[in-house]
Amino acid sequence: MKRIAVLASGNGSNLEAILTAIERGEIQNARVTLVISDQEKAYALVRAEKHGIPRALFRKEDYPDRESYDRALLALLQANQIDLVVLAGFMRLLSPVMVEAFRNRMMNIHPSLLPAFPGRRGVADALAYGVKVTGCTVHFVDEGMDSGPIILQEALAIREDDTVESLTERIHRLEHRLYPKAIDLWVRGKIRFEGRRCYIEQAETGAPERLG
Ligand code: GAR
Repeated sequence: MKRIAVLASGNGSNLEAILTAIERGEIQNARVTLVISDQEKAYALVRAEKHGIPRALFRKEDYPDRESYDRALLALLQANQIDLVVLAGFMRLLSPVMVEAFRNRMMNIHPSLLPAFPGRRGVADALAYGVKVTGCTVHFVDEGMDSGPIILQEALAIREDDTVESLTERIHRLEHRLYPKAIDLWVRGKIRFEGRRCYIEQAETGAPERLG
């Protein structure tokens, strides 16, 4: 049984989608055993409570610098024997101490087709730029901002009358399908690495197929 920690700063709709996928058996042999937020008011913490999942709050003002924050975070994750860290709208860059400890065991979801439009405003930036296609990306976390090896991506067309709100809503729907799928692939050991490329093993043939 793999133990998953979800880190979220906001609403936590991706957390909810992951919990639902586990409850429905779409992700097997895994449980979310810890939810962590840097924001006291994050609705993700309320969702965790409703599901009876232990929660922890890591406020940046309680630590002198990023490294001590990340060391405390890492200690908690290790004490809880966490196998996979899932960033779901966690709006903090993690330092090398965390990245190294969870190399290829820490995922993030981002609301654009990376490497286009990284950062906090992926949806608004894509809309303002005027691209016709955007989407979402699930990737492993490396030392950069939204820059690690890509696991899954899915595209959607931007409509002429889209607003940040309408586009965010459609991207969320994509995210809620894609994130559980990526987690399931990781839990089943189906992701193989070659440099920064991820290959997904096909059950039928055993042959790796490149996705994304
Ligand atoms: C998601 O859309 C996620 O892609 C984005 O935050 C949102 C969180 O929503 N993450 C980033 O922009 C990371 N750079 P949620 O709290 O409802 O899951």
